[in-house]
Amino acid sequence: MVGEILADQAHANALQRALLAEAGRFMTAYVQPHHIRLWLAGASGNRTLAAYEANELGETFDDIKTYKSTCKGIPTARLAGVLIEPSLKQVKAAIAVKSVVAFKSAYGTLTTGCDVCHITAQHGFVVIQTPPANPYADQHLIGR
Ligand code: HEC
Repeated sequence: MVGEILADQAHANALQRALLAEAGRFMTAYVQPHHIRLWLAGASGNRTLAAYEANELGETFDDIKTYKSTCKGIPTARLAGVLIEPSLKQVKAAIAVKSVVAFKSAYGTLTTGCDVCHITAQHGFVVIQTPPANPYADQHLIGR
């Protein structure tokens, strides 16, 4: 029993270390999936899910600011504050007023913010786009 708890703890510590090692772990584990789901839900008028995804995306950037405020000499916290927070606010506002048109426009600005940071961080080869399809076969994302 104690052995199992210690093994679990060791596993949790290893996971935490892996996660905090690089901003890239946050990106592929959390930022990218929420960014994809946000589009598919928001563009199809699935407002409740879209609002949820927008919050999750915001919380992920909050975590980046807390745990990875700089990465490889890049001020990730400051850049996220400038490049993500204002457009994410617009995304949330568009969802709140039920405007798919405003949502799509704000999402475009948000996505541009992703790439401006990638270019600033010498990762301009990471190019983000509006997702063309749902890669999550097990989750219903689009509005009915
Ligand atoms: C604050 C700067 C910053 C912002 C904002 C940012 N990224 Fe990143 N992103 C990075 C950095 C730095 C890396 C590379 C990290 C590494 O190599 O450890 C990265 C890597 C990635 C990767 C990994 C690519 C791969 O092939 O492994 C994905 C996917 C990604 N970002 C998606 C996004 C999306 C989607 C957004 C916008 C919602 C976004 N990022 C916003 C800094 C940022």
